[in-house]
Amino acid sequence: MGRLPSAGVGWYRKKLKLSSEDAGKSIFLDVDGAMSYAAVWVNGQFVGGWPFGYASWRLDLTPYLKTGAENQLAIRLDNPSNSSRWYPGGGIYRNVWLVKTAPVHVAQWGTQLTTPELSAASAKVNLKVTVDNDSKVAAEVSVSTDIFALDPVGRRTGTAVATIGPVNVSVTPGSSAVAEGRATVGSPRFWGPPPHQRPNRYVAVSSVSEKGTVVDTYETPFGVRSLKFDPNEGFFINGERVPLNGVCNHHDLGALGAALNYRALERQLEMLMEMGCNSLRTSHNPPAPELLELADRMGFLVMDEAFDVWVRQKTPLDFHLIFPDWHEQDLRAQIRRDRNCPSVIMWSIGNEVGEQYTGADGAAWGKKLTEIARDEDPTRPTTTAMNWAQATNLLPATVDIIGLNYQGAGVRKAPGQYPTFHEKFPQKLIIGSETASAVSSRGEYIFPVTNANSAPVSASSGEDRAKKQVSAYELYAAAFGASADKVFASQEKHPYVGGEFVWTGWDYLGEPTPFDSSRSSYSGIIDLAGFKKDRFYLYQAHWRPDFPMAHILPHWTWPERVGQITPVHVFTSADEGELFLNGKSLGRRKKGEFEYRLRWDEVVYEPGTLKVVAYKNGKTWATAEMKTAGNAASWSMEPDRNRIQANGRDLSFVTVTITDQGGVTVPRADNRIQFEIEGPGEIVATDNGDPTSFEPFQSHSRKAFNGLCLVIVRGKAGAPGKIRLTVKADGLKNGKATIETTRSP
Ligand code: GAL
Repeated sequence: MGRLPSAGVGWYRKKLKLSSEDAGKSIFLDVDGAMSYAAVWVNGQFVGGWPFGYASWRLDLTPYLKTGAENQLAIRLDNPSNSSRWYPGGGIYRNVWLVKTAPVHVAQWGTQLTTPELSAASAKVNLKVTVDNDSKVAAEVSVSTDIFALDPVGRRTGTAVATIGPVNVSVTPGSSAVAEGRATVGSPRFWGPPPHQRPNRYVAVSSVSEKGTVVDTYETPFGVRSLKFDPNEGFFINGERVPLNGVCNHHDLGALGAALNYRALERQLEMLMEMGCNSLRTSHNPPAPELLELADRMGFLVMDEAFDVWVRQKTPLDFHLIFPDWHEQDLRAQIRRDRNCPSVIMWSIGNEVGEQYTGADGAAWGKKLTEIARDEDPTRPTTTAMNWAQATNLLPATVDIIGLNYQGAGVRKAPGQYPTFHEKFPQKLIIGSETASAVSSRGEYIFPVTNANSAPVSASSGEDRAKKQVSAYELYAAAFGASADKVFASQEKHPYVGGEFVWTGWDYLGEPTPFDSSRSSYSGIIDLAGFKKDRFYLYQAHWRPDFPMAHILPHWTWPERVGQITPVHVFTSADEGELFLNGKSLGRRKKGEFEYRLRWDEVVYEPGTLKVVAYKNGKTWATAEMKTAGNAASWSMEPDRNRIQANGRDLSFVTVTITDQGGVTVPRADNRIQFEIEGPGEIVATDNGDPTSFEPFQSHSRKAFNGLCLVIVRGKAGAPGKIRLTVKADGLKNGKATIETTRSP
């Protein structure tokens, strides 16, 4: 749980001032996510609520509101303890909207856009628009839709590329009607993941008119793409086989907690993309809508997951308490909200649910959830992520795609299960829905180093129990998991598998396997502060084979190890490399079949410079160096962006690196750093990525962890100007950095 408080009751109150011009309008409260068991009152009258903290939902406030007056909105949230296996956050943690429409309007998530026929020459677009009539009289409406291409940042370009309608429908009072129409987009620009494809998007702008007057408009961003889930060949998008090089992520944003911040989420995805990650699994719940907007814009493929439990509990007060009553509303809400997103390629109806083993009863739930998903969206397959399933169990048969958590590479001593499932379900694609659970602490290297390419983490293998840290040689995994290397091999040995979703892309709050008393996980490829662990480069080397890179580990500042064996590993997208220590060759090595790193396990430590020259197909491809550092003497400060918007939301993530006189990072520096800020900005949080640190995230003072420290700065809303950040580090010179905030466009 991250040792952070999230359980309890929270009340939110807000005055809503409505003008007399709002009379006759329909007014809704749209909640993107509130944790949890929300109950809503207006002017003292109970309106309704929604229990699942990850669901998006709407309440009609119209009957309770007074126009031309001030109204009191109250929302009560009640987040039970023991209701989550990870840090869920508490309270209203996503956006909340007040939506005002004419009484005749497009329903909530009221459009469904599909592209049933595609070719390079044209795309047939089918659009259903549900129109609600909240008035007391029948409405004759006409719905017409223009389709525009969007530019990479989501602005409409040029004139309409196609028009649907007008389609005329009658809507009786208090009910809904569907206006369905078709159009053809010529020479469509397909949506697909980089690097070989571009995430081109369109928007369908629908107008609802009554007696010639437009009463509502509604935008549906979408993409044109074809998906194929081939049981023998893998996953295809627009005809290209694309391996799902994916990660699982929870929703928290590290030091910022669970409250949604668009820039923080964007930064997470930017770093994952830099690594070559092309897919995301929203473990284990519906994401914020902004995550999908980012995925659509950037070109990530998404497994949109609904639940972590069904009727069988994992923690005493979790979702199982309400699953029988709420699974249908929750799943329908998620799919209606997300089904027009081109990024979403499949629905996951559950993660490691207890119903894997409950025979016919459990399978009945799987069947029911798949039927609901098909009813809401006939275009995408369902999956469920299974960690203990046998091919003979009844549950796997109820979903379209077989999702295996860890079972593919082999859980503990059991052999990998890909062949067994492939044989039993020759008509279904298999994916590694969750893989690895490899663990490490950034910058911690623990000796001796295992000779294996994957080892379960334990007191004698990869752990420093006293410090509660795990070795960053990136060979250690949870007992049921496997190193990245072992998973790569299991994927390549079974080319019919569609890809993998690594547990996890980023470290998250809670579940700190293998040290229960820590605050955050060790499984991230990127640490909680957003600093890359060595593993980042292992994935980059494998997932971006065309990107010339080489990365050396460990750091090379070991005054206590002179004369001792200190293995050196290199992660590179090349196939071969020569390692030099102080100019002397330590040999040229080649990756063998199903090997993903170069190892020099017999290196005897002496201070100086390690250098690797990496070769691909015999030609120099990349080089890297690692130098011994002197004492901490200075630091550098690097904002990820030094111009941000003054909107009270945009953030600059500033990395402070402790260095020696010559600018070399001091790899174990833990100087305490004090941050001060002047100008129209504030320090939102600090972190250092150390899973054992219990310093408050809001603290303006923090120790560096293995040379690095992070401070997150926000510009004040409506006050553009220069923000000056001062760093005072124990024993080091002081200094300043400047961040400029600009008025929002
Ligand atoms: C998986 C589970 C994840 C997480 C992980 C821990 O079995 O699906 O939610 O608990 O193990 O490493």
